[in-house]
Amino acid sequence: MVKSAYIASLLAACATPAVGQLHQLAVNAGLKYFGTCLDNSHTSDAALMAIINNSAEVGQLVPENGQKWAYVQPTQNSFTYTTADVIPNLATSKNLVLRCHTLTWHSQLPNWVANGSWTKAQLQAVIEAHIANVMAHYKGKCYAWDVVNEAADDSGAWRDSVFYRVMGTDFLPISFKAAKAADANTKLYYNDYNLEYNGAKTDRVVEAVNIIKAAGAPIDGVGLQGHLIVGSTPSRANLATVLRRFTALGVEVAYTELDIRHSSVPASSSALTTQANDYANVVGSCLDVTGCVGVTVWGMSDKYSWVPSTFSGAGEALLYDSNMNKKAAWTAVSSVLAAKATGTAKPSSTTTTLVTSTKATSTTAAPATTTTASSSTGQARWGQCGGIGWTGPTTCQSPYTCQKQNDWYSQCL
Ligand code: XIL
Repeated sequence: MVKSAYIASLLAACATPAVGQLHQLAVNAGLKYFGTCLDNSHTSDAALMAIINNSAEVGQLVPENGQKWAYVQPTQNSFTYTTADVIPNLATSKNLVLRCHTLTWHSQLPNWVANGSWTKAQLQAVIEAHIANVMAHYKGKCYAWDVVNEAADDSGAWRDSVFYRVMGTDFLPISFKAAKAADANTKLYYNDYNLEYNGAKTDRVVEAVNIIKAAGAPIDGVGLQGHLIVGSTPSRANLATVLRRFTALGVEVAYTELDIRHSSVPASSSALTTQANDYANVVGSCLDVTGCVGVTVWGMSDKYSWVPSTFSGAGEALLYDSNMNKKAAWTAVSSVLAAKATGTAKPSSTTTTLVTSTKATSTTAAPATTTTASSSTGQARWGQCGGIGWTGPTTCQSPYTCQKQNDWYSQCL
């Protein structure tokens, strides 16, 4: 494929008004939400907020930092919610799904906890007091809480945290029992990264779920953070296998912090295409697994991402570039969602071309191939090429063909 033609077609796709936006497409594909984290300091960026405030695009928010222990209980028994409430208030005012993040975690943990010298009973009381107070403050507002975050390390060992050192694995069921007592109606999640590779760390987290259950504690979900690397992201089928390992334990799953970083930046156009495919595989795996409820990206725009400051030299991990333009990855995600969308899901309050259609169609029927002409013009792979309300290009670049997915979405595959 000629690179300049590919880029031109992507730009054309971006300039065309979207028929369906990510959250709306996700809901129509059977998920509960498509969402993002948001940090308080980013809410003053009008261009970013134009994306966030489009509730057809973003249907779920999670505070990137505000609810962490260091902010809500910086000194013992002194709880403060000024910082923590900013994003939850925004989500509530817009009637968005709110994921709450996070309670028992070794990081962004104040020194008084991390460096305290505790007996097991004392640290249990500290955990219980923290969870009781924070969850009471948000009672009834959170779709889910990340109750325990990152208890396994990358080798597959239990992480060497103050919690594990003092309590062994007992801090797991203790945290979940405290959470249930504080708010019985929110989903209680274990959340971690690098579970996607199905290695020793994944095994350890399967064990964590089993330990929690064996202790008689409740657990509703496992969050796969999804901090992944372009070109090293597992296949859609392998990702689905991992998700099914957890749903087989009787919990739901979600991608909770998805970003797929380039190891070096700026990314080449071919790297952007690989990133788009990686994103399609991750989101597609969620669509493939009953019990995968949603996808949360860890930021909407490359302008605001934790990646460059955390992974030296890496970046450009998100769906919009730093000028708030949609990247090829956005197109890939919208396409994979649209391909699954049936239009039978409950419409949101936001009116888009997609939700005004009430006609349900089957995605299992053989797709109609409407265009087979070999061409260097037209839409690139994954691009939209037809559907109700579509006014953009209806042909595809060779070797892709325009395939009908449903009444409102045909795409180049
Ligand atoms: C990150 C935030 O994005 C940064 O702003 C902050 O400086 C550090 O934490 N796993 C998690 C998230 O569960 O809370 C982390 O968020 C990223 C890794």
